[in-house]
Amino acid sequence: MSALSIARMGAEVLRQPAAEVVDLADPGLWDLVDDMIETMFEAGGVGLAAPQVYHARRVVIFFVPAARNQGIEVPLTVMVNPVINPLDDVTEESLEACLSVPGLTGMVPRFANIRYHYQDMAGALIEREAHGFHARVVQHECDHLDGVVYPMRMDDLSTLAFSDVLLAEASARGHELELDEEG
Ligand code: NI
Repeated sequence: MSALSIARMGAEVLRQPAAEVVDLADPGLWDLVDDMIETMFEAGGVGLAAPQVYHARRVVIFFVPAARNQGIEVPLTVMVNPVINPLDDVTEESLEACLSVPGLTGMVPRFANIRYHYQDMAGALIEREAHGFHARVVQHECDHLDGVVYPMRMDDLSTLAFSDVLLAEASARGHELELDEEG
């Protein structure tokens, strides 16, 4: 396994739709997933999509720490060809960050309640429901498969800010600011 370099916003691979994975037995796919896992943990993210490491394929990894999901951990999940369907029209806004947009954070509206399905690496079709932060991470990562980075989802660009500036100003006011982990 080796950590890969992460594409930053503007790179061609982050602007285009990624290709469906057709051959789960491709050994290159397993190597890619191993390298993505190492890359995500080394970078301190909670999710990573294959285009972020210059592979235009529909592969996403993520996990959700228990503290961010009402005490229920979502363990490391590898999704191939994921598809999202919102369960209703409810959206919520929260600060997001992205390993491909280093240093910045901004308020992004996302569906609060979704159902999603994907193939696991054994080819089984898995279906899940997600809410809140779990739903947000899945939407953020799957956007990378369609050439979308979070600033393109923002309603109010005035909330786009450098994370360290927000943290410094909040701490100067005696507030604790919690920023979302990156994906
Ligand atoms: Ni991202």
